[in-house]
Amino acid sequence: MKQKLIAGNWKMNGNLAANESLIRALLAAVQQPVATVAVCVPSVYLAQIQHLLAGHPIDLGAQDISAHEAGAFTGEVSGAMLKEFGVRYCIVGHSERRQYHAESDALVASKTQRALASGITPIVCVGETLADREAGKTEEVVKRQLAAVIHENGHCISEIVVAYEPVWAIGTGKTASPEQAQQVHAVLRAQLKAASSQAERIQIIYGGSMNAVNAAQLLAQPDIDGGLIGGAALKAADFLTIIDAAR
Ligand code: 13P
Repeated sequence: MKQKLIAGNWKMNGNLAANESLIRALLAAVQQPVATVAVCVPSVYLAQIQHLLAGHPIDLGAQDISAHEAGAFTGEVSGAMLKEFGVRYCIVGHSERRQYHAESDALVASKTQRALASGITPIVCVGETLADREAGKTEEVVKRQLAAVIHENGHCISEIVVAYEPVWAIGTGKTASPEQAQQVHAVLRAQLKAASSQAERIQIIYGGSMNAVNAAQLLAQPDIDGGLIGGAALKAADFLTIIDAAR
């Protein structure tokens, strides 16, 4: 059975002191994790967290990556820079970036390619809005988002992680039911299978108000290979309970 991946997305939260106490609390409890565990932190804190995680079984992640290799792109952070700080995972195409930074499917596909070229595993986010779901367009939307990434990344597609994050469930306290989530994960799995003979080993993780109470049920679904956790990843006890639910 493939290991589950539990990744925290800290979003734009934290400060030096709070980061340190959160990481120390996680490290004290996570010694031989039964799941792969990662924290995706704001880029200014990568050096701090890299230092704290050194020699411990929690991986470092970033929240975004430039689609460009290097050069005159003010404010951007390249894959090579992330790699220098020991970044193993990078969230790509989070709905907050699609929404607030107008990231298109094509840009998300390029960022995915840039991450792979840099030796970083992209966690590619897809998900429908409430309006999409109510219009019966969930499948169409997530398949369109993933198709762009498959198209640009060809046979490397088995190296990505996919995160299904229904936009209506993010930060709202409303979670997709395990059945709703499993249904979309199965659609994504089938799409990946059509593109790659390695699709079975691709981790498809769920995000959207996953918490200490609902994690076990979500993670028990056959096509849910982990979680991408926002709010609950900022509280050590909650994040640890979710990691424990991934065994
Ligand atoms: P919440 O867990 O806060 O709903 O956030 C989910 C998310 O966006 C993770 O990337």
